[in-house]
Amino acid sequence: MAVRINPSILSADFVNLEPDLHAIASADFVHVDVMDNHFVPNLTFGPEVGGRIQDVSPIPLDVRLMVDDPDRWAPGYAVLGAFSVTFHAEAAADAVALARKLRDIGSRAGIAVKPGTAIEPFLDLLSEFDQVLVMTVEPGFGGQSFMHETMPKLTVLSDAVSRSGLDVWLQVDGGINQDTIGIAAEAGANTFVAGSSVFGSVDRAAQIDVLRAAAASHSHQ
Ligand code: DX5
Repeated sequence: MAVRINPSILSADFVNLEPDLHAIASADFVHVDVMDNHFVPNLTFGPEVGGRIQDVSPIPLDVRLMVDDPDRWAPGYAVLGAFSVTFHAEAAADAVALARKLRDIGSRAGIAVKPGTAIEPFLDLLSEFDQVLVMTVEPGFGGQSFMHETMPKLTVLSDAVSRSGLDVWLQVDGGINQDTIGIAAEAGANTFVAGSSVFGSVDRAAQIDVLRAAAASHSHQ
């Protein structure tokens, strides 16, 4: 089973983003954390910076919105050309309509759930999404510790996706490193966001290889 490593630039050098993007060129996607200081108590950047990242990045964008009113803001990132746009279930007014709009524009549509959000309400809607992100930390900041208690939720989701036969990517984000990525892979994840683990390493490419090998060796799909 293919695994995907998506370094998060939340831990990159924001005033030297272009070289940091090229340092992760061997990854599958660049994970772009958009935060509005409303949905989460942190602020990063908006579509203007997102558009420049799209212009210079050597790899496609996996944009994740931690914003209020994603129904309004998410389509703009698909228009920019993002490969995927993921919004939070807790913030969307109409998640299915928004996902359909993202797909119509040309991006894969992802939905994210916080650690305290149940996955069951979305199991009958899997055909509407190309990716489901099970957060393994409370959203808002990098460098937090992996929340093992989110793994049963991931297993329930993974079993539902397997039964459905759908091509829904299972993503995890938060505290993913060489010690935790195998735990998430065994629970069914195949797409991994890692910020501090990659950008905290001197050799980013080597760390991406370490994470990819660890994920692949524990993936049961
Ligand atoms: C939280 C952010 C972080 C980031 C990765 O909202 O989404 O999870 O992407 O951070 P690390 O890998 O440093 O935990």
